[in-house]
Amino acid sequence: MALYSEKVMDHFMHPRNVGVLENPSGVGEVGNAKCGDIMKIYLQIENDIIVDVKFETFGCGSAIASSSMATEMIKGKPVKEAMALTNKAVAEALDGLPAHKLHCSVLAEEAIKNALLDYYQKNNIPYDEADFPEGHSHEE
Ligand code: FES
Repeated sequence: MALYSEKVMDHFMHPRNVGVLENPSGVGEVGNAKCGDIMKIYLQIENDIIVDVKFETFGCGSAIASSSMATEMIKGKPVKEAMALTNKAVAEALDGLPAHKLHCSVLAEEAIKNALLDYYQKNNIPYDEADFPEGHSHEE
């Protein structure tokens, strides 16, 4: 059995939504200290809908595939749905990741949450701190 699913390979070879947004509504950056990989997500939010999303990932193939899939999953969706996106859902949408690569999909979930936190804070939108249990701020 191949280590990586066809979907992982596809999103790794042809990542969707790579790039930067000029005036994003929110930006989230996270890193994994162990592997040193970094992921940055830019969100454009209008009327509570994620109208555009871009990412930059300096990381492994699974991290690139996870960012690509995660951005596809939240594009055009309400903020609430993006908040609810889990790394498990991203990994499932990729038809699975090897166990030692699951942390790569965690980066995608965390980067999106960080970008949403940034959006809430910039716009003085009240949010539930319990939704951000690790208390990420993007100065981290
Ligand atoms: Fe670190 Fe994939 S090995 S994000």
